[in-house]
Formats: sequence, C-alpha cells, structure tokens
Amino acid sequence: MNKPNRLTVELSRALSPETSSAEAVAVGVFADEPHLPGAEILTGSLLEACTQLVRNGEFKGEEDTSLILHVAAGEVGETGDEGGANGVGRRLLLIGLGAHADFDAAVLRRAAGMCVREARDGHVNALHFVMPSEGDADAPGMVRALAEGAHLGLYDNDFYQTDDEEKRTLERLYIVTRRGGDELSAALERARVVAESANWARRLADEPGASLPPREFARRAAEMAGEFGLTVESLDAGEIRALGMGGLAGIGQGSDEEPALIVLRYEPVGSSPEDELWAFVGKGITFDTGGISIKHGLDMYEMKSDMAGGAAVLGALRAAAQLKPRRRLAAIVPAAENMPSEKAIKPGDIVRTLAGFTLEVVDTDAEGRVVLADGIAYARQLGATRIVDLATLTGSIIVALGDRRAGLFANDDAWASAVESAATRAGEPVWRMPATDDYKKRIESPIADFKNYGGRPDATSAALLLSKFAGDTPWVHLDMAGPSWHTDPQPHAPQGATGWGVRTLVELACGGGIRDNVSDS
Ligand code: BES
Ligand code: MN
Ligand code: ZN
Repeated sequence: MNKPNRLTVELSRALSPETSSAEAVAVGVFADEPHLPGAEILTGSLLEACTQLVRNGEFKGEEDTSLILHVAAGEVGETGDEGGANGVGRRLLLIGLGAHADFDAAVLRRAAGMCVREARDGHVNALHFVMPSEGDADAPGMVRALAEGAHLGLYDNDFYQTDDEEKRTLERLYIVTRRGGDELSAALERARVVAESANWARRLADEPGASLPPREFARRAAEMAGEFGLTVESLDAGEIRALGMGGLAGIGQGSDEEPALIVLRYEPVGSSPEDELWAFVGKGITFDTGGISIKHGLDMYEMKSDMAGGAAVLGALRAAAQLKPRRRLAAIVPAAENMPSEKAIKPGDIVRTLAGFTLEVVDTDAEGRVVLADGIAYARQLGATRIVDLATLTGSIIVALGDRRAGLFANDDAWASAVESAATRAGEPVWRMPATDDYKKRIESPIADFKNYGGRPDATSAALLLSKFAGDTPWVHLDMAGPSWHTDPQPHAPQGATGWGVRTLVELACGGGIRDNVSDS
C-alpha cells in the first residue's frame, strides 16, 4: 500500500545547502519572455545554456511543459550569501508557465503539481522552487497556490499496486523567495490542510465501489470526524425510512448494501443555535450502475466516483475542523448504491420525499437528484440558512462545459456570486447556468408533483428539480461531473479523481485572506 504524502514545505531565502545528491532546482519560464525569472541563482555557463534553450525556442515555456537538465556540480546555487553550497541543484527543472500576462495562482498551482511529479519521478528528494514573479501583490496567495499544487501533485491512486521496492517520494520542498513572515507561514499551513483534505476526498472517490459501499463511506467519515473533533449525526437505513426519506430509500432499495445519510457538524467555540448554519450537501452514490435503467458502455467504471461530491463536502469539514472558522457548518451526504435487482426501484415508480413532494422516477439513472432532494430537505430541517450542494449529477453538464468548469445553478444571486468568487479564488472555476421556471415543463409529471427526467437540457432540469426542494433557502448547486475526474493522466495529476470542490468550500467557509464576502449579520 502507498505511503502517506510526507512532503514538508518551507520558505528559503536562498538555495540552502543540502548534502544529498538527490536535489534539484526548478525555475519557471514564461512563454513570452526570453529571460528566466529568478535566474540570478544560476551562474556561468549554465545560465548561458538555459538562456540559449529559451531564446532558441527549444523550451517554449508553454503551460504543462517542463524540461529536466542534468547539471555538473557547482553550476547552480553559487550565489554567495546564505546558500549556495557546491552541489545544490544537480538537476534543473525548467517549468513552463505560459504567457506572463495570464500568470496567476491557478497557473502556479498546476505548474507546481507538474513540477513535483517530475521531480519525484526523477528520484529527487529535496527540491528548490524559485518563486516566479516575485513582484506579485498577493504573495501569500501565490505561496499558498504553490504549496497546494505541490501537495496535490504528489497524490497518487496506485494504492492497490503491490510495491516490489521502496517507493521514492519527494520529501522536502523549499520555496525560494525573498519574502517571509507570519502571513506566509500561515499560507503554507493552510495550503497543507486544504490540500490534504482534498486528497482525503480524492482517495475516497478513487476507491472502487466494492470497497466503499454506503456504510463503509459512513464509517470512514466517522473515523475522520473522530480524528478532527467533528460531531457525527449519521442515520442508518431504518432511520432514513422512518423519517420519510423515500427518495434516498427508494434509490438504495435495489442493493444489498443499505443506504446511509452521513451527517457531520462543525460548531465553532462560542456559537449559538441562532447563528447562521451553512449546509454542504454532497451526492453520495457509491456506485451508479443506472439501476433498472442500466448504463451501457465502457465508462461505467467511472461511476465508482459518483460520490465525489459527498467526499468533497466531508473533506471541506475536515479542513474546517483544523482552520476553525467562526461559522456553523454541516456536511450532509445521502449515500446509496444504485443497483438493478428484483427489489430495485422501477421506471415509473413514485417516491414520497422528506419534503412531502412526490416524485415520479421515470429514469432510475437520474438517481442523484432523487437522493439530493432528500439531502437538501434534511439540511433545511436541521435549520440550514444557506445551502451549497455538490454533485456529479449529469453527463449533460460535461457536454456543455467540459472538464475545466463546474456548472453553477442558484436561486439567489448574492449567494451565487459568493460561491462563484470563492471558486475562482480557489482555482476551481465555475460557470453560471439557468435553473429557472421557464424550463419547468421538463420536471412536470402528469401523476406526481414532479418527475426526475424530462429531456434536454438535463443539467438544468436536474437543477430546477433541486431548487424546488431548496425552497426559499439561499441555495447553490454545483454540477461537478466534468472536473471531478481526469479521464486521462495529466502533467499534474494521475487519471482518476481530482478532489474537486474541497478548496471552493473551504474558501467559502473560511474566507480567503479576505474576510467572508457574504453579508450575513
Ligand atoms: N452520475 C451520472 C452523471 C455522470 C455522467 C457523472 C458522467 C459523471 C460522468 C448520473 O447519475 C446519470 O446517470 N445521469 C444521466 C441522467 C440521464 C439518464 C437522465 C446522464 O447524464 O446521462
Ligand atoms: Mn445515474
Ligand atoms: Zn449518478
């Protein structure tokens, strides 16, 4: 089994001396600038060689590209003052950063992820990353992005591979910058907490369906809650039925694995029940076969990650428990396995939901909205004053937006822009889509209050249905089917789950260096 990511990240004013031979220095290159940012650490013939490589266009500095150079000892790091021992930087990594004008935290985060993977694959155990663009106004934000990218980049999902040799890993990252101070140290710590929580969620979403049925999902959530001091209020199948959550019970009834409603709470010290409560609701389908409306094709295996939204809301509370915002939070995950069987819900069956509405399930593969209807209603019963739900809800949103953006649907403009701005700051961009009543024919049923499927545009029909359950509580729905999963390996990430959403929710709940941007008493 794989070892945990043990990366330590520190700031360094210069290239500090290292004794190991496995070191490297990474330097960013902008696509439209012939000089190397931070190149003052390079000396003599090496500086010349790199400058030539860049000038000749052999290394263009495009995003997602890198070049490793093996360097004779003494060529890097002889800057005199604090650092600069001979032998530092036996390898030089040129890291493409794209056009300077487009350079931001998101570019840096991704570049850092690529860089640490390259370094690790090159058996580097200590890496100096020269902070590009030192003049940036938001130094803490950039340092945070770099460190986050590094922690996220070292994630791997080869945990079922049998190791025949001790696996190497990057152990130390030094961010070479002239800046320092408490704010930057805090940025490093926050980056670690957030990225580890995203990787925690990601690990669950990469877990095969058989290893993570709903009750195991609930057990892992409870284990994590115990570690970080969150309260567990989860419900079992009997309680779900007794409470009247016919949607969650109905979707779960085809499987021998019982459904669960996972509920974690974070209560800051000194909070009172009158304070706002923000509920994060996440789709928790531990495997989506489609049910009786069974899926076909090769991509069904990706449906082991149909609980990525659920994992993300739990991961966000994992981070909040450590960052301790002054905000009451709840994570709610309706978890079920969507299976066909003799007991399974059939197309045309009607369920009675917790909110009291009846729902005609015309397609059992549109199961996410059915379980979320109960999850959102439960959030309101808990007294949620604002709701965000995260779900790998529709293939339709992938058709619309691809894998770089999630769709954002909302019933409240102020809350929508708060979530959108948190997502942008977190480097998880979203795109607003309509969930308006001019589409309501899509969810009208001739025999029940609503139906769960009514043709295109399905991402909007799904969101519109959810909005009926959110009622007048400010609500945002993030359809993250695209960005939750890398279909192919990336320079900064393996194929598979991405942990998408944790960073956005943490940014929203814990502020982002800036104070919370939602005006609420
Ligand atoms: N979990 C899927 C959506 C999905 C598709 C997520 C691809 C990630 C990648 C969802 O439950 C589903 O099956 N949606 C169907 C709905 C349709 C049958 C109404 C879809 O989008 O095809
Ligand atoms: Mn489905
Ligand atoms: Zn699904």
